[in-house]
Amino acid sequence: MSSALEIYKSNTKKSAKIFERSKKFHINGVSHNIRFFEPYPFVTKSAKGKHLIDVDGNRYTDYWMGHWSLILGHAAPKVADKVKKQIQNCWMHGTVNENTIEFSKVIQEAVPVAEKIRYVSTGTEATMYATRIARAKTGKKIIAKIEGGWHGYTTDLLKAVNYPFDQSESAGLTDEQHIISIPYNNLEKSISILESVKNDLAGIIIEPLLGGAGCIPATKEYLTGIQEYVHRINALFILDEIVTGFRFRFGCLYNTMDLDPDIVTLGKIVGGGFPIGVICGKEEIMKITDTNSNSRLDRSYIGGGTFSANPMTMTSGRAMLKFLKKNSGPVYKKIGKLGEEARSGLSKIFQDRVVVTGMGSLFMPHFLANGVTQITNAEEASKCDTNIIKKYHFELIAKEGIFFIPGKLGAISYVHSQSDITNLLEASKRFAVSLK
Ligand SMILES: Cc1ncc(COP(=O)(O)O)c(C=O)c1O
Repeated sequence: MSSALEIYKSNTKKSAKIFERSKKFHINGVSHNIRFFEPYPFVTKSAKGKHLIDVDGNRYTDYWMGHWSLILGHAAPKVADKVKKQIQNCWMHGTVNENTIEFSKVIQEAVPVAEKIRYVSTGTEATMYATRIARAKTGKKIIAKIEGGWHGYTTDLLKAVNYPFDQSESAGLTDEQHIISIPYNNLEKSISILESVKNDLAGIIIEPLLGGAGCIPATKEYLTGIQEYVHRINALFILDEIVTGFRFRFGCLYNTMDLDPDIVTLGKIVGGGFPIGVICGKEEIMKITDTNSNSRLDRSYIGGGTFSANPMTMTSGRAMLKFLKKNSGPVYKKIGKLGEEARSGLSKIFQDRVVVTGMGSLFMPHFLANGVTQITNAEEASKCDTNIIKKYHFELIAKEGIFFIPGKLGAISYVHSQSDITNLLEASKRFAVSLK
């Protein structure tokens, strides 16, 4: 029988050629590192509903869903209709538009901390600004983050992303001494690290579910403990809900955990598939960014971006939230149930070889290795056999027409169905047999 690699190469000949051309123009052939996988990524021609279609005509059931941003699937009609109308009107003007206000009204209702809002074009910008605000507001320099936490590529936060976390992530970083990292879900150790820098701690940025680092939910006790500590020493508690915002409910995760963040960052789903980052904060905090009432030295200067709050994103985001608000019951019930089935199904199939993490519509199997028996933080996830999960995902791509970015979590969208999960589990069984 042919190997997954042989099948993939034989099915993706056009992709192979086009990707060779791409490498001539783009480093590694891509513009986002995560999009590359061996031997070469297929080249997408179109995407609709739950499917990606590549240039060779292969069709994949997609669980990557545009960096987990497309909760209604590709080209969702409710969003597409509004976007088409908007594009006939105009798509960029760089001045104030009314859609932004209506959009913000919906965000504010769902995310109470959003007393004041600023839009940018990426999550990376949102987290960069959030840390700047924390430093400006407190007059302190250090930002704490979680080991494995991914908040985009800013120099402010590009530290302790990949295991081993004490090694620098990149040449060219100038300010690494002002970022420290703490282990997820380990309150005692985290507090002792924070204690060592408490006089200069401006804030902590934290995901309520570690996304890129392994789809690992935080315990309520951990988040509450960190928040309590951070507030006691007058630092800011920043929740990065770029993955989790509007993923599990109409709103954020923090509202369900009795948390009281100072700033919440949003992105992905709220853009309705168009580029977005959102900084939401309490008025008392956000007013430091007011350029009218603060002097140059007192203000936190944020809010650039040629395409910030552009009419296309405001329109698509608004259409997305309108649909989710109206249909939150069925949407979150359906995708949460399918997620639960995926998690329990994969656990049964792989048994004690795997721990499946996630919640709601997000899931990820970790192939246990190196003595790891549970996945509560990024170190445990990193010590798992990342080669096997990549092999598993690649086999799904090559042999089964099912797409995950190899090694990353899967996201179920409203257009996925029961039969997709059944197919995924059947395909996973075939892989499990090959492991024996
Ligand atoms: C939790 C989190 N924060 C920030 C970002 C950065 O967002 P963007 O890729 O839109 O810059 C990401 C991207 O995956 C993310 O997962």
